[in-house]
Amino acid sequence: MGVRKMKINQVKPDFPIFKQQVNGQPLVYLDSAATSQKPQVVIDAISHYYQTANANVHRGVHTLSDKSTLAWTESRQTIAQFFGAKPNELIVTRNTTEAINGVAYGWALDHLKPGQVVMVSMLEHHSNLVTWQEMCRRTGALIKLIPVTPVGELDLDWYGHNIDQQVKLVALSHVSNALGCLTDLDKVSKLARKVGARILIDGAQSAPHMPIDFDKLDIDFLAFSGHKMLGPMGIGGLLVKQELLDSHQMKPWLFGGGMIASVSPEKATFQDNSADRFTAGTPDVASLVGLATACQYLSQIGMQNVFNHDQTLVEYALEQLGQIKEVQIVGPKTNRVGSVAFLYKDVHAHDVAQILDSQGIAVRSGHHCTMPLHTHFGWSATIRASFNVYNTKTDINALMAGLAKVKAVFGK
Ligand SMILES: Cc1ncc(COP(=O)(O)O)c(C=O)c1O
Repeated sequence: MGVRKMKINQVKPDFPIFKQQVNGQPLVYLDSAATSQKPQVVIDAISHYYQTANANVHRGVHTLSDKSTLAWTESRQTIAQFFGAKPNELIVTRNTTEAINGVAYGWALDHLKPGQVVMVSMLEHHSNLVTWQEMCRRTGALIKLIPVTPVGELDLDWYGHNIDQQVKLVALSHVSNALGCLTDLDKVSKLARKVGARILIDGAQSAPHMPIDFDKLDIDFLAFSGHKMLGPMGIGGLLVKQELLDSHQMKPWLFGGGMIASVSPEKATFQDNSADRFTAGTPDVASLVGLATACQYLSQIGMQNVFNHDQTLVEYALEQLGQIKEVQIVGPKTNRVGSVAFLYKDVHAHDVAQILDSQGIAVRSGHHCTMPLHTHFGWSATIRASFNVYNTKTDINALMAGLAKVKAVFGK
């Protein structure tokens, strides 16, 4: 991808999906927390790989196989560098869910003992909760849920008082997909390290919006999804600290071709290099190339600029939505990243979303895979407007106009 200085308020034309109209209106996409749109360069990179380099990696001596292997290796390097990690610290997965399951099956299954504790929070996406429910069922470990404050932030006081030597893993989202709350990783890790617990951070909603420097963070694992950060669906990653890989505390959880060193009828030995040891079977090279291109695209904008842009939109959305008396914003007003969620007085979230859709505005309504949080607050469903680099204040103005229609339809 050629180097080009990009102004963040001008990137929308890079995303071909916005050429279309939805329900006769220009598309206003406010559902990026579910999945982001893709710039043309990412779509082109995938197509270019299939047109020029498609062959299976590692297994061939022929030129095309070499080309494909190079594309795989270079893409791994680009993605690892984007996250401030070493290439060997990146395990390629399909998404965040698979990455979290990787920690469960590759580390926790061998390390959790009956009676030990996995600490998660009330805010977690189901993929960072159900996985641990299941792993605790298998190992006899126990789950403890860190509660939330009345505005929905992690109750760090409770965490400080309740973390003890029995806690072996603290597994928390960096940014909540339901309420946008940003977790203070410094506080979380200082307390976890005092009791010797491992730390898994679900970066699904932070990776698209803010700089992440994995090697500087005092955490063990970070999970992310490519499709939420302008990359293709079906590709993501788990970053694992080198020490856990070198010491083989983190083990492969998928077995088969590609990851072995030798195989006899009775047993197999595995590749020394962790990049290979964790790649069982034919990988999705084209999607990894697409994700690496998305990382380059974001780097050209600059992740600090991406974050500042997000904060401008979040603040503007909070301010605008705060002016509608029927709207009740849920979650905190500060330390909020990527999205704003709300309730609309006496109108179901799905009805609001449907009326907005009829005007070409895509928002998400429901429990956002955080049922315990919604049950705790007594919300059957919330409406979430979420942002990415292509959104501007104009999109939030369109949302405001869309909500005026809700008022007109329901007479509220
Ligand atoms: C915080 C969080 N964790 C995990 C996930 C699961 O991501 P994926 O479906 O890409 O595995 C999501 C998806 O919305 C999320 O928002």
